[in-house]
Amino acid sequence: MGRGLLSGKVAVVTGAASGIGAAVVERFLSEGARVIAVDLAGQGPDRPDLLAISGDVADAETWQRIADTARAEFGRLDVLHSNASTVVRAPAHELTERDWDRQLSVNLTAAYLGARACVGLLRESRGAIVLTSSVHALVGIPRHPAYAAAKGGLVSLGRQLAVEYGPEVRVNTVLPGPVLTPAWDGIGEEDRRRSAEATAAARFGRPEEVAAVVTFLACAESSYVTGASLLVDGGWTAMKDSA
Ligand SMILES: NC(=O)c1ccc[n+]([C@@H]2O[C@H](COP(=O)([O-])OP(=O)(O)OC[C@H]3O[C@@H](n4cnc5c(N)ncnc54)[C@H](O)[C@@H]3O)[C@@H](O)[C@H]2O)c1
Repeated sequence: MGRGLLSGKVAVVTGAASGIGAAVVERFLSEGARVIAVDLAGQGPDRPDLLAISGDVADAETWQRIADTARAEFGRLDVLHSNASTVVRAPAHELTERDWDRQLSVNLTAAYLGARACVGLLRESRGAIVLTSSVHALVGIPRHPAYAAAKGGLVSLGRQLAVEYGPEVRVNTVLPGPVLTPAWDGIGEEDRRRSAEATAAARFGRPEEVAAVVTFLACAESSYVTGASLLVDGGWTAMKDSA
């Protein structure tokens, strides 16, 4: 059970059906929030404190439904966690334009659409936006050109939104490193081992460890933190194995 850090608050979490998003939903609920959980499809049944919305975050219509639902069902919105993402691995010259566009849309444009749709409500409540970027924003990892460009864009966008919508709305970005979620399902054992070993923590992160930082940035404990980007990577970016 949490400490009531989000007691009385209403939060939207995208990419809520899996991995980090699912852990954030659990943590927000345990901290007393009511949550609108957004994913492409098929989540569990609604509860008084948990409402599921199926939709594509790259689609402005989904965001209209999210904002309308927050207002109609709860009368407010305090936290927006833009977290859904998709990745297609290929070097730039082999990536189709369609796959480039889709990754930019889901990973970056969706955060803009979310801010645009929700900022009115967030201003009313003096709320917070948390964006999920990635260490890919800072470090080039082969075969991720569109993903990296989108994740880098999120860091800039988070800073920009903080300036645009302060002082009413705080906006911060988390940059996870290797966190063991279903996103790693297709990745081989050897690559996983190398990723874990490339962290100072010498292990994968757990989704709950990212959810803890997202919760901090979403609640009043971080009341003087805005426009920040925070690594949650077990020291992955700090470390380089080199003679
Ligand atoms: N797991 C990691 O190692 C890691 C590292 C760095 C950053 N991240 C970031 O953390 C976030 C969560 O990643 P995860 O590992 O939990 O991934 P995940 O694959 O477990 O979950 C992602 C969720 O997003 C949903 N989703 C995808 N496209 C969507 C769309 N268009 N509309 C709505 N929902 C959509 C999926 O259905 C899925 O439920 C992502 O932004 C990811 O880029 C993860």
